[in-house]
Amino acid sequence: MPIPRRHFDALIIGAGGAGLNAALRLASAELRVAVVSKVFPTRSHTVAAQGGVNAALANVLPDHWHWHMFDTVKGSDYLGDQDAIETMCREAIPTVYELEHAGVPFSRLENGKIYQRAFGGQSQQFGGEQAARTCAAADRTGHAILHTLYQQNIRARTHFFDEYFAIDLIRDSEGVVLGALVLGIEDGEPLVIAAKTTLLATGGYGQVFRTNTNAFINTGDGMAMALRAGIPLQDMEFYQFHPTGVAGKGMLITEAARGEGGYLVNADGERFMERYAPSARDLASRDVVARAIVSEIRAGRGCGAQKDYVLLKVDHLGAEVVHQRLPGICDICRVFLGIDPAQAPIPVFPTAHYAMGGIPTDPQARVIMPARHGPEEVVPGLYAAGECACVSVHGANRLGGNSLLDILVFGRAAGQDILRYVSENPHHRPLTDEDIEPGLARLQRWARRGDGERVSVIKAELRKLMEDHCGVFRDQETMSHGVAKLTALRERLDIVRLQDHSQVFNTARIEALELDNLLDVGTATLMAALAREESRGAHSRVDFPERDDTHWLKHSLYSLSEDRIDYKPVRTKPISVDSFPPKPRVY
Ligand code: FUM
Repeated sequence: MPIPRRHFDALIIGAGGAGLNAALRLASAELRVAVVSKVFPTRSHTVAAQGGVNAALANVLPDHWHWHMFDTVKGSDYLGDQDAIETMCREAIPTVYELEHAGVPFSRLENGKIYQRAFGGQSQQFGGEQAARTCAAADRTGHAILHTLYQQNIRARTHFFDEYFAIDLIRDSEGVVLGALVLGIEDGEPLVIAAKTTLLATGGYGQVFRTNTNAFINTGDGMAMALRAGIPLQDMEFYQFHPTGVAGKGMLITEAARGEGGYLVNADGERFMERYAPSARDLASRDVVARAIVSEIRAGRGCGAQKDYVLLKVDHLGAEVVHQRLPGICDICRVFLGIDPAQAPIPVFPTAHYAMGGIPTDPQARVIMPARHGPEEVVPGLYAAGECACVSVHGANRLGGNSLLDILVFGRAAGQDILRYVSENPHHRPLTDEDIEPGLARLQRWARRGDGERVSVIKAELRKLMEDHCGVFRDQETMSHGVAKLTALRERLDIVRLQDHSQVFNTARIEALELDNLLDVGTATLMAALAREESRGAHSRVDFPERDDTHWLKHSLYSLSEDRIDYKPVRTKPISVDSFPPKPRVY
């Protein structure tokens, strides 16, 4: 039986902030827009973002987008592309006002302006006093933004395919992207969504690590689709560990806790961040704080019977501040730890949080293919935005509050450029049965039941492997063992046993497809980390402890088909201001 087809101007895969901000722009311009999401849209991971979104509004302290840009370049350990960073920091201000006008219920100051709090790595005057740049809706900012964007999309008549899983991109023989093959999770039926443009907005892949802050859905689906389409992934070695996850569990305790005046102590009750970052202390950038916590524990100064966590104190702030400004973390602490943070300190340990790397894009969110010889090329019809993309505004380390900003600014940029593309390419290109073959083959591969282990067994091993072999501190020997184990896991996945109920609910098949994706992006991460012989941002090699700008101020590109790493230069030239040249990075 032929596979049914639906036709749209734009297909967006993923219904988080990037996807929905792009969709809103397109649907408001009367384009036919399809948003495919493997969960109900408001369950996308943007909903979990806590602390806020950065914009130099200067509502609380003096601020300027150029200072924001400096902090972001420095935070990136000079690996971020400065043209993209300038775009993001300038656009932050109108973006936040646009959200406000769309109805996002931001917290307010006494004077009615949007509330802004301090976050890590923020400064005034290019490295001076602490700034207060993070616009917040209590500690549920992502929830406020995602629900608003969803409601606006419903009003604009965006067409949602809820609980559809994207199997693969569809490309023609010339490499033009024609849409995607998707699978209805409820009925197990494939569907071709033909589109003039396709935007990947599938978020990150935190589920590749055992202890993480991410939703279960964050399995790197878009990144793996890009890899299978022959597009390399950029800077995958740079994975962020958020300093303050609930110890032993991983749930996020927002950086806003420290922004509001909280601080970390070790078993001796010492505010140890004063030794690691004498000026910024607990509000140093995340890579610095995460390393400090792990170092304290390795030095035997951890808390508890196993000495395996440190304490985050907010109890001195008073119950009113803690309960009003941090209600979400109060809930997390009550449910998972049985404590009220206004009364007792929170046990914390770094937890896998965010991918700085991803699908290479330009500031218009167009996916770009590095050419080995000659200039880079745009992949026609394909866009990527949000955590699955690498534009690259975060370089080797993202600043807190810049992730919501990234998804909104570059989601909107994608929408704008798609409008241009569709006006220049108003007709659907022919889509043949052969174009669908690779996606169908993938689907069929995961429709048969093997006689090996269960998906959950292999997934648990992968997550443990990545945690043990590609964590906060890395070295050649540990990572090489990790690569060997990954190869063995891939062989075991090939004969994985799908559970019986797969024929009813498809859940085992979806889990196998997700694990297939996780293995590919996990391999990209470990291979790129093994190859980079320096320490920069979140990539900290104990065998190469220094940053090496002479040899390594460059982006990595991991290709699946050739299982190889290439490199390309950092775009160090901003659009309208002078470059910030690399300097020693102290906080
Ligand atoms: O700590 C947080 O609230 C996380 C924010 C972010 O990752 O940007």
